[in-house]
Amino acid sequence: MISGCMQRVLAPLQQAAVALDIDGVLVKGKRALEEGGRALRMLGGHNRLRRRIPFVLLTNGGGVSEAEKAADVSRLLGVQIAADQIVLAHSPMRALAAEYAHKHVLVVGGEQSRCAHIARGYGLANVSTPNDVVAWRPSAWPFMPPPAAEQLSAPAVRNYASDPFHAVMVFHDSFDFGRDLQIATDVLRSRDATLGAELVNRQSVPLFMSNEDLIFSNDYARPRFGQGAYHVCLRAMWAALTAGAPLEYTLFGKPHAVQYRYAERLLDRLVLAAEPDADIARLHARRRIYAVGDNPAADIAGANAAGWTSVLVRTGIFSGAADANDPVHPAHHVADHVEDAVAWIVDSELARMEAPPP
Ligand code: G3P
Ligand code: MG
Repeated sequence: MISGCMQRVLAPLQQAAVALDIDGVLVKGKRALEEGGRALRMLGGHNRLRRRIPFVLLTNGGGVSEAEKAADVSRLLGVQIAADQIVLAHSPMRALAAEYAHKHVLVVGGEQSRCAHIARGYGLANVSTPNDVVAWRPSAWPFMPPPAAEQLSAPAVRNYASDPFHAVMVFHDSFDFGRDLQIATDVLRSRDATLGAELVNRQSVPLFMSNEDLIFSNDYARPRFGQGAYHVCLRAMWAALTAGAPLEYTLFGKPHAVQYRYAERLLDRLVLAAEPDADIARLHARRRIYAVGDNPAADIAGANAAGWTSVLVRTGIFSGAADANDPVHPAHHVADHVEDAVAWIVDSELARMEAPPP
């Protein structure tokens, strides 16, 4: 572990910051990549700059709280990560509480009712899940046993026939595509978003989705379906059922700008926590933010659009040849793995420090 002592003693470098992807960069499924811990220790100060480089972990994963993810990654990599260094796909969705704090929302995705609890932690107090709906009317999705009490997001079963929804929010990968396609489509198509009411070919409430990754990298030999696969199915079912009525939705997650602005605010806070008098405007003018990722369509496209410096690694979705870059979303640099990526970042910053002023 990086000791708290190391964290406190080394002043952070202000001219650079790093956002590291998790799946396919630091870990593969439940297994840590051995270069991951070494890369994080380099960022903690074990580098040629002898300075700590502020970093966040910017993942399209989710389905757990930021604190749970921080604890999980800390344990896997043997490096202490704080909850305020984690940006999950759904982290910026906490801003939706400004509009939906007390409005009834269908929260889709994740294991059992975990995402409902995460949503409540974000200030969305009035949420239900597809399982809650099936508990009310098991015939709403008859292809599963009725959910048990411990699978529900609240002790009381609500009467959804008189409890309209105001939004559908997909927080994480669906753990039951069929059930989640049926119940989300029901809410989106029901008149006044009241279940059991007439089905109409017009979207009844807004739809928010946290991560459009079609595929992601875990410890299986080939990429797996991500939340984006559920989006494809939802759009296809909507189009088939409504004869092509428009379906509007707001996307969070990489490569969307909202994720990068959120990460930048966390990086600012990390600097201010160590140096409360830091001049943030000056910091922004000089700071170069590096993103290390394995998914060109998410990590590299988003970082390039945000004006960051992108580094693509070969340990996940991208597996091009040693001298290859992604043809559609080329990165500023390609590295074999995250340790090489961070070494390149340190070298780049050393070169910047040693360069004569313009
Ligand atoms: O889309 C699934 C998610 O696990 C990808 O995570 O860390 O590669 O952005 P990450
Ligand atoms: Mg990844």
